Amino acid sequence: MTTINIILGSSRKTSLGKNLLNYLKLNQQKYEKEDQINLNFIEIGEYHLPFFYEAVPPMQNKNRSLPERQQKWLDDMQKADGYVFLTPEYNHSFPAVLKNAIDYLADQISGKVVQTITYANNSRGGQFGGIELNAVLFRLNAFIIPQNVAIGNVQDNFNQNGSILDGAKSGDYYQDKLNQTIKKISFYAKLLKNNPF
Ligand SMILES: Cc1cc2nc3c(=O)[nH]c(=O)nc-3n(C[C@H](O)[C@H](O)[C@H](O)COP(=O)(O)O)c2cc1C
Repeated sequence: MTTINIILGSSRKTSLGKNLLNYLKLNQQKYEKEDQINLNFIEIGEYHLPFFYEAVPPMQNKNRSLPERQQKWLDDMQKADGYVFLTPEYNHSFPAVLKNAIDYLADQISGKVVQTITYANNSRGGQFGGIELNAVLFRLNAFIIPQNVAIGNVQDNFNQNGSILDGAKSGDYYQDKLNQTIKKISFYAKLLKNNPF
């Protein structure tokens, strides 16, 4: 079975991104059935990773021995065939907590497909964060789906449980966008998994 990790890149307790993560969780069974995948939800803050400190860059270090939390993060990423990074824009980039976690990666996402979804509490949808994140994922040899998916004004469209708010102007539009995004990442993850280079 093809596994897609959906990774929330904000560690704030009151993260607006949780509304979107919860929307995807609410639809988990539907996606898994329709797209023949497993979805695995990850909140980056739950690993409580320390600031990266290793003496040797991960990709040059074949004999790595790591504490449990760092190893769990790497194992969780290794197990997946594709990734959706759900990230806000912080000061025109993406959150430091996500960059720190990514710096622990060696080849876990190499040759696998990635989709970035950005979001914000305003109409621009956090696109600068996506541009910067994609540049980092490119360096880690991921196949990046070129078009960033941007969700603006999350608070006006999704509630904390992930449901579409009553009367939300862009609710249907974003719902459709997210559903198509899961379909697309599932398609490419299966394609690459079944056709290794
Ligand atoms: C440290 C910080 C920096 C931010 N920088 C930007 C920014 O550059 N552009 C933007 O559109 N929104 C920015 N925002 C607003 C975010 O879009 C909004 O707070 C959103 O809820 C953040 O996602 P989160 O709640 O999941 O952490 C920033 C928010 C924070 C906390």
